[in-house]
Amino acid sequence: MRAIIQTKFGSPRDVLKHAEVDKPSVGNGEVLVKVHAASIHIGDYYMIAGLPYVMRPMFSALRAKNRVPGTDVAGIVEEVGDEVTQFRPGDEVFGSYKSAFAEFACFPEGALASKPSTLSFEQASAVGVSALTALQALRDHGKVQPGQKVLITGASGGVGTFAVQIAKAMGADVTGVCSTRNLEMVRSIGADHVVDYTQDDFTVGDRRYDLIFDNVGSRSLSDTRRALTPTGTLLANGAPVGGWFGGVMHPIGALVSSLFARQQARPFVSTSNPDDLAVLKEFVEAGKVTPQLDRSYPLEQTPEAVAHVGEGHARGKTTITVDTVDA
Ligand SMILES: NC(=O)c1ccc[n+]([C@@H]2O[C@H](COP(=O)([O-])OP(=O)(O)OC[C@H]3O[C@@H](n4cnc5c(N)ncnc54)[C@H](OP(=O)(O)O)[C@@H]3O)[C@@H](O)[C@H]2O)c1
Repeated sequence: MRAIIQTKFGSPRDVLKHAEVDKPSVGNGEVLVKVHAASIHIGDYYMIAGLPYVMRPMFSALRAKNRVPGTDVAGIVEEVGDEVTQFRPGDEVFGSYKSAFAEFACFPEGALASKPSTLSFEQASAVGVSALTALQALRDHGKVQPGQKVLITGASGGVGTFAVQIAKAMGADVTGVCSTRNLEMVRSIGADHVVDYTQDDFTVGDRRYDLIFDNVGSRSLSDTRRALTPTGTLLANGAPVGGWFGGVMHPIGALVSSLFARQQARPFVSTSNPDDLAVLKEFVEAGKVTPQLDRSYPLEQTPEAVAHVGEGHARGKTTITVDTVDA
């Protein structure tokens, strides 16, 4: 089958190759998916670039078992292994696991859910890590309640576009922080207020938020805390990534700082599970969440697609359309 493979760390244009590899075979509890579309999240880029350097031993260990990068897919079940109970060949599915940038991907049953009938394969592939992160941040870590004031930075990005819609669906009063070119898009997906970070600073002024879901980390923790209510929560989800530790120290700093304050400041790591994929499916089918698509690339142009996401200016989700051929 055709797939994208990675042999070393570096720029996606240099280290990703379009190649023929063996089709994976299903084991117990696994599902072979004929991939129609995959999407890219910023973590895919960091794993390919090997950033920050301190993470390279862990990324190398993962790659030793898996040369094909990619996490999120949507497609059609081709074959199921023993003990699979939820799916059968022909089912349309979406989910989040590994080795997504290929014509076929083998996922554990629990990493998949039925594709929302209202979505195309491209849209369904875009849900994955970004939407799981937004859901778990707002519901589990932020414990958003109706009427609360929630500010979301990076509101135009992969996580942010889901977060704006999910926070709105949870009844929050939502403020999205984005650049001028994205103001209308962020309003159109439900933000009650928008802040153009090229003109205004959300940490200055009188407005206070019960929850700040920070997907960018461009401001210091003390500046960001100033915009919280006295008992508000900061979810430090983003930080500039690069060099040895860039992207690692900011969330740790957030955790340590909340030991000394009434305001909570915490990092978290999202996880994929079938229950949350089902919750996202319900949001989508109820018309409360619609994946916002940026650009779409054919499989062989995955290096360009990952480089685009790595530039940090994605507008919603970037997808890869896999032109499947009969294998
Ligand atoms: N906790 C977890 O498990 C988890 C999982 C996934 C992702 N993450 C983290 O979540 C963060 C966001 O990921 P993502 O996939 O949403 O990234 P993304 O798709 O690359 O989006 C980044 C967005 O941020 C906007 N932006 C840049 N500077 C900004 C600023 N100063 N203020 C407001 N918006 C700004 C960009 O728009 P403009 O170019 O128009 O500014 C872009 O739309 C990353 O740091 C990632 O590592 C964490």
